[in-house]
Amino acid sequence: MSATTAITNIASLVTNDPALGDGSPLGLIENATLIVEDGEVAWAGPAHRAPAADTAHDAGGRAALPGFVDSHSHLLFAGDRTAEFNARMSGRAYTAGGIRTTVRATREASDEALAATLAAHLREMLAQGTTTVETKSGYGLTVDDEARALRVAAAHTEEVTYLGAHIVAPEYAESDASAHDAGGADAYTALVAGEMLDACAPYARWVDVFCEEGAFGADQARAILTAGKAKGLIPRVHANQLSYGPGVQLAVELGAASADHCTHLTDADVDALAQGETVATLLPGCEFSTRAVYPDARRLLDAGATVALSTDCNPGSSFTSSVPFCIAIAVREMNMTPGEAVWSATAGGARALRRTDIGRLSPGARADLTLLDAPSHVHLAYRPGVPLVAQVWRRGVREV
Ligand code: NIG
Ligand code: FE
Repeated sequence: MSATTAITNIASLVTNDPALGDGSPLGLIENATLIVEDGEVAWAGPAHRAPAADTAHDAGGRAALPGFVDSHSHLLFAGDRTAEFNARMSGRAYTAGGIRTTVRATREASDEALAATLAAHLREMLAQGTTTVETKSGYGLTVDDEARALRVAAAHTEEVTYLGAHIVAPEYAESDASAHDAGGADAYTALVAGEMLDACAPYARWVDVFCEEGAFGADQARAILTAGKAKGLIPRVHANQLSYGPGVQLAVELGAASADHCTHLTDADVDALAQGETVATLLPGCEFSTRAVYPDARRLLDAGATVALSTDCNPGSSFTSSVPFCIAIAVREMNMTPGEAVWSATAGGARALRRTDIGRLSPGARADLTLLDAPSHVHLAYRPGVPLVAQVWRRGVREV
């Protein structure tokens, strides 16, 4: 028989199981005990009803919640874009490259360098309470560079997304004076949906497209996502980030797991998200770091859409790895309650990744959890910028 560990003296426990605790979506239990066995939650409930366990770990009156599920990041990159950020924050135009700057540096980097950068960011995320991370390719944009990015990613996380359609590769972009004409955006789309997909699909679970003016249009995005589906990948879409557009509707039409960004939505977009299965993943680090208008979380929640909250960690538009930071912004700037923001960063992220084993702390879930130096999850928004994450456990083992 395997040993059980009781995590005792939890001031308040977020289970995200409405059948437990206070009946709210957070399934909040005060003065709680959590019992872990074989890396899973075996029992969660009020301390006075807890069954016996083999060993005990005193949580010291801290709050406990499921580990954050960061369902959107771009961590396969090299290079530096500090100057771009500094120019943007100084109100100066900056014309040097954007995503292309990172593409150039990423192509030049060794596998080892890419893996080291990825591992460093995953450690940084873990220290801030994130126990599951989705990450994408999208800075290689050749068959070999995309495939090796995903190979590196797959060695570190089970949630890997093929984003060959991040931007049209410079070699194919008609706007690029130095590019030889390889046939334009449609030719690049065919590559992404063909040979590049074949090389990448073995390492990925998801296929993503940046559907936006200046990146990929609805027909191109549909072709790539449909080809990905035929290879067994599940779609997710960068949608409606910079302007109104077809991304959200396309995501819902194709049964995508998630439409990400959702910053510029029509009423029809909101309705489609509310009625479909597609999660709206909001990425406020991006609006923060680009001084853009935040997405309207309240409108989505009031319509009945499922909302996830993630970092979009990438060197260009959102170089934060901190889910607590995103929770604080979502509460202050997007009219989410602290409870909604915490739910979206845990259970919401799990929904966006179609996972039922994470994002909750009820029997059968993975014992992935965070203990806060605070008596309640509300402090994540109440004490912005304060490093409250005291302990992080994965599969029942304390790692931080
Ligand atoms: O999610 N939207 C497209 N891609 C990223 C930005 C990537 C970059 O600037 O390097 C995003 O915000
Ligand atoms: Fe992104």
